[in-house]
Amino acid sequence: MNTLLINNIEKIKQNVKSWKEEKCKIGLVPTMGALHNGHASLIEKAKQTCDKVVVSIFVNPIQFGPNEDFDKYPRTIENDLELCKKYGVDIVFSPTPKEMYGENKILSNTELTYVCPPYKFVDCLCGKSRPGHFDGVATVVMKLFNIVNPDYAFFGQKDAQQLFILKKMVKDLNLDIEIIPCPIVREPDGLALSSRNTYLSTKEREFALSISKALREIERQYNTGITDANILFDVGFSVLNQNINLEYLEFRDFETFDKIQNVKKNTLIAIAAKVGKTRLIDNIIIG
Ligand code: PAJ
Repeated sequence: MNTLLINNIEKIKQNVKSWKEEKCKIGLVPTMGALHNGHASLIEKAKQTCDKVVVSIFVNPIQFGPNEDFDKYPRTIENDLELCKKYGVDIVFSPTPKEMYGENKILSNTELTYVCPPYKFVDCLCGKSRPGHFDGVATVVMKLFNIVNPDYAFFGQKDAQQLFILKKMVKDLNLDIEIIPCPIVREPDGLALSSRNTYLSTKEREFALSISKALREIERQYNTGITDANILFDVGFSVLNQNINLEYLEFRDFETFDKIQNVKKNTLIAIAAKVGKTRLIDNIIIG
C-alpha cells in the first residue's frame, strides 16, 4: 500500500474530496512527529475504525512558549514515514509553518484568529506553567480539522488535559467529529512513552521512572480504601525521586475538571515534573 506524503493544504483537500465522494470514513491522527509506539497505537485504532487514515506531522510553533523546546524538538521525518507506511497510513500531512500560518514567524492573536478554550480548563495543570499553550493546540487542531474534515480524530489519554479541552471544543463549536480517546502506551517498566524521553540521560530516565511508580502506588493505596486526596498526595510524593522537580500532582474529576478531595471513579490523577531540563507528564484515571 502506498503512503502519500503531502505538505500542501490544497492537495489534502482534493484527496479528502474524492474520499468523501466514495463515502469513506476518514480518521485523523494529529501528531508532532518523532513517532513512537504511543502514536502507533492511535494509528492502529484509526485503521480499525476508518476507511482512510491521515496522520499529520507538524511541530506547531504557536503552542510552544518562548523558552520552550520548539527548536530542539526531535524531527525524524524519515523514520516517521517508515512507521506510517508500516501501519498502512493513507496520507502523511507534513506542512511547513508557512503553509499552515502563511508566515515563517510566530503569529500572536493580534494577527491570527485563535481558538481559545475556556479559562477554567486552560488556567490549571499544564496551562499554569505554559501560558497560551492550549490556545495554540486548539487553534492548530481546529485548522487540521478544517483541512482534513475527518469523521474521527484520535488523541492519547497521555495528554489528558489536551484531550479534555479538545472534546470541549468539539462540543462547544458543534463540530461533526468524534474524538476517540486512546490509552497511554508505556515502556515495559512503566515509563509513559513520549517524544521527549529522547532528551533523558540514563540517570534521568531512572529518576523519571518514579513518576509512573508514584501513580501506581497512589492507585494501589486507593484500592485499599484510602480516598483522601491529601493522604494520596503524600503517598505519591514519597515515591517521587528527590532529583526530580515536581510541578503538580493533582486530583481532578475527569467529567468537570474540578479539584477532588475524595478520590472516586473517573478521577484524573495527573503529574507534571521536570527531570533535568526535560518536562514530563503522566496520569491515570481511576476506573
Ligand atoms: P504529540 O505530543 O506528538 O502527540 C500526538 C498524540 O499522541 C497526542 O494525542 C498524544 O496524547 C498521543 N500520545 C503521545 N504519547 C502517547 C502515549 N505514550 N500513549 C498514547 N498516546 C500518546 O499532542 C500533540 O502532539 C500536539 O499537541 C498536537 C495534538 C498534535 C497538536 O499540535
